[in-house]
Amino acid sequence: MAKGQRRVATGLPLTMDQTNVFNEAKAGGSKAICFFNNKGGVGKTTLVANLGAQLALDFGAKVLLVDCDPQCNLTQYALGEEKSLEIYSSADPASVYSIIRPLALGKGYSSEIPVVKPEKFGFDLVIGDPRLALQEDLLAQDWRDAKAGGMRGLQTTFVFLDLLSKANKLKYDFVLFDMGPSLGAINRSILLAVDFFVVPMAIDIFSIWAIRNIGQTVAVWQRELKSGLGIAEDPSELPDVERREKLKFLGYVTQQHKERGAAASKSGFVENGDVGGSVKKIVLAYQEINKNIPAEIKKSLASFYDDGRIDPHLGEIRHLGSLAPMSQSQNTPLFNVAAGGSYIQLRKQARELYRDIATNFLRNLVAA
Ligand SMILES: Nc1ncnc2c1ncn2[C@@H]1O[C@H](COP(=O)(O)OP(=O)(O)OP(=O)(O)O)[C@@H](O)[C@H]1O
Ligand SMILES: [Mg+2]
Repeated sequence: MAKGQRRVATGLPLTMDQTNVFNEAKAGGSKAICFFNNKGGVGKTTLVANLGAQLALDFGAKVLLVDCDPQCNLTQYALGEEKSLEIYSSADPASVYSIIRPLALGKGYSSEIPVVKPEKFGFDLVIGDPRLALQEDLLAQDWRDAKAGGMRGLQTTFVFLDLLSKANKLKYDFVLFDMGPSLGAINRSILLAVDFFVVPMAIDIFSIWAIRNIGQTVAVWQRELKSGLGIAEDPSELPDVERREKLKFLGYVTQQHKERGAAASKSGFVENGDVGGSVKKIVLAYQEINKNIPAEIKKSLASFYDDGRIDPHLGEIRHLGSLAPMSQSQNTPLFNVAAGGSYIQLRKQARELYRDIATNFLRNLVAA
């Protein structure tokens, strides 16, 4: 969106407290945050897009989203089918792939960030690319080199660090990364570059495992990177030395389920309230897991945040029913879907929900 065009999109005015916390977060300079869970379908993409839109439209932030999932769901959500078709029909769309590709060709970092401006979300977007899946190999090979202190490997590993130093120069307040559900090489490069990670999670046993995986895996990567950097020939030639090794946990978002019914949807968002015997059991298990999440977070991610400074629970996302598919078909944030009748109430809930998440997100950015 061009300068001067930003506006309060939802009509929900910012409180003084919200304005202050935003100004404080902004004053701290450009921040990079990734949204990660190695469990799929937990609402990562929906959260990144709507939080990014909330920060851009209502708070007036300059926001860059980077679609690092080769499935390109974020790009399709933000741009719509027609525009996506137009872009992906070209032989070589300017995308996140264009950022990594020059490294594979031995040409160093790409010279600029290719962005598009989705009409209704207020943020800038580096579009996703199915070819990103091809780059996993390059990043994986170069990671072996990076761990051994090789400058080429380190340079490739820091591809997103370079992107962030460019975004900083372009004065983006927030750079948000949507990621696919894996602990692969692309996601490793992102997690080693950003300042913070947020974990969107479903309330199920797999998300508990995901938290454990994230904590352990990232800690190993950081150690390996540190030892690689320790023996590298000239680390000062790498981008943004300052930013490295500071990864912190910013918080988690839970997806609220209604009682699980027999017709549990594949996505994990369930509407059916048929409480039979086995369903009751599942509901009880759900309540138990929900109760244990804070302790699990504390145990598995303790080294990534200060428990005394932030409350990591950024919010609970309730099931917004068919507002979600409507938001996708209109390519507009959940809180701005154009519809009447019962949708008005759902949209109001979405407005309050994402405003609250954005406020907690900003608060933790400032306090962390
Ligand atoms: N609050 C919500 N209410 C209803 N449906 C939702 C909500 N949030 C997300 N969904 C739906 O759940 C599905 C999965 O969400 P999403 O694509 O955001 O998950 P994801 O974690 O990004 O998945 P993947 O692992 O494939 O990247 C989508 O169809 C989305 O529309
Ligand atoms: Mg996704």
